Amino acid sequence: MAQPAEPTAPPEPLSTLRLSDIRQEMGDCRRCQLWKTRTHLVFGTGNPRARLMFIGEAPGAEEDQQGEPFVGAAGQLLNRLLERLGLTREEVYITNVAKCRPPNNRNPDAEEIAACRPFLVQQIQAIRPQVIVTLGAVATHALLKAKAPLNRLRGQWQKWQNIPVMPTFHPSYLLRVPQDRIKTWEDMQKVLAVYRGEGTAD
Ligand code: URA
Repeated sequence: MAQPAEPTAPPEPLSTLRLSDIRQEMGDCRRCQLWKTRTHLVFGTGNPRARLMFIGEAPGAEEDQQGEPFVGAAGQLLNRLLERLGLTREEVYITNVAKCRPPNNRNPDAEEIAACRPFLVQQIQAIRPQVIVTLGAVATHALLKAKAPLNRLRGQWQKWQNIPVMPTFHPSYLLRVPQDRIKTWEDMQKVLAVYRGEGTAD
């Protein structure tokens, strides 16, 4: 097991909500400024009992239009990765740390991430995945409250509330830097081993 990203934080309150309750609670969310420019709040998609959960950054233009995470160019690459790993979008769960699109595809800021965090936490607690994969620095830092660069964290098991977390590159980055796809492939082999019960997260 790698060094934890930060000293163990106090556990966040446990939730027994279902995903539909959490979505209902978010409602026509106006807890941060992103509601003003969004088309759809992009809650998440996939198996409510998924054993594997992917967490990205925030919806882009396509996702904002369709109301589904990872349906644009980065999503196509994520789909290809899942397919090559023998996984389907239906068996995993995919969401983002920010549920609404930041204008001009900027990163969600600290306030926006904080406003969405209780819902992300509740989603994880409702699904109780066996493994979480964080896609990119924004998702990794937001979930783990870590500050170390993604390059130091990726490929190394982390933990969030006792759930193994594997940080890896964001598919948008891999579209720009295809030579690093091999590293995400390697990270995902570690994830698959745990997911298939053939390895442990250490
Ligand atoms: N990038 C993300 O981080 N999330 C999406 O849903 C789409 C692109």
